[in-house]
Amino acid sequence: MAEAFLHPRCTNCHVGDSGVPGWAGLIYGAGAVHGMNVQAGESRIGAEGLPCRTCHVTSDAPNTVPRAAPHIEEPWQLAPVTLAWQGQSASALCAQLRDPAQTDGQDIAEIADHIRTSAFVAWGFAPGAGRSAPGGSPARLAQDLMDWEAAGAPCP
Ligand code: HEC
Ligand code: HEC
Repeated sequence: MAEAFLHPRCTNCHVGDSGVPGWAGLIYGAGAVHGMNVQAGESRIGAEGLPCRTCHVTSDAPNTVPRAAPHIEEPWQLAPVTLAWQGQSASALCAQLRDPAQTDGQDIAEIADHIRTSAFVAWGFAPGAGRSAPGGSPARLAQDLMDWEAAGAPCP
């Protein structure tokens, strides 16, 4: 599960209050940040006058062009600050996911439901255009979360 959550396709959006999206795991090196000085601002949808969806257009067409801004059928934006886990260890992520105070109030079943249904997560597992992706699938990750919850959500 940590391998998926901590994959750059996911962590590039799950960043903290710097509000700067990541470009890790592309061609710019491990800790690369988004070019063009893009800032998500407090809204997380982009600075006034330049929302993320200016370039990351809202469209369900497949992502086929390498180096183009990825798009999905929902307005592109960063995850809320409370859901930041970029740069975290697997054990810190584990402690975060089982504590609703650190997940925007969502319990594990709700998180699993999000994994199953979110357009962001679907894109992360199948980003297209030659981008790397975590192994498995949203359905498999959701099932793993439910199995983990059923086992008492241990954090070894
Ligand atoms: C384009 C940015 C973006 C990407 C990429 C992204 N997310 Fe998110 N994520 C969000 C946003 C925004 C939310 C807040 C909920 C919403 O608006 O759907 C969120 C919420 C979440 C949540 C919390 C769900 C809840 O119930 O509160 C989890 C867990 C999550 N994402 C996991 C992932 C995983 C795993 C990946 C990679 C496979 C991923 N995300 C990729 C933007 C992103
Ligand atoms: C001026 C155009 C532009 C704006 C505005 C913009 N982006 Fe991007 N973004 C791009 C381009 C182009 C890429 C692809 C870079 C590459 O693959 O070389 C990209 C890539 C990304 C990635 C990396 C995706 C991956 O494969 O991991 C994330 C995350 C991202 N943008 C988030 C955002 C967020 C959040 C906003 C708003 C705060 C935003 N972007 C605003 C052009 C833009």
